[in-house]
Amino acid sequence: MPKLTVEGFPTVEVEAGKRLVLAIEQDAHVDVLHACGGNARCTTCRVEFIDGEPTKWTAAERQVLAARSISGVRLSCQIQCDHDMTVRAVSRLAGSGRPDPGGAPLPDITPPAVWT
Ligand code: FES
Repeated sequence: MPKLTVEGFPTVEVEAGKRLVLAIEQDAHVDVLHACGGNARCTTCRVEFIDGEPTKWTAAERQVLAARSISGVRLSCQIQCDHDMTVRAVSRLAGSGRPDPGGAPLPDITPPAVWT
């Protein structure tokens, strides 16, 4: 099983292929935001990779980050845990002023992943 480390939190093992946003929330127990419900629209699920950044991207992730001229982060809703990863959770509910993290992302990547 892949190992996930969120900086400042204990390393956890996660189900292979699990969406990173869900692994951060459910396995690492870190309050990552996902305002659009994991649909590659809001960018609030962004993380910085310290190690193990995936080489593959969904087309939706590339598109939304480019459209907003955002670099240096990845969208955890568009990534599967298929290898060991270490990330920094830079967009959390704590301190955000939001009432909740957002709608629950589905188990599979949405919109359906088109890998690039
Ligand atoms: S872009 Fe909105 S939750 Fe990932």
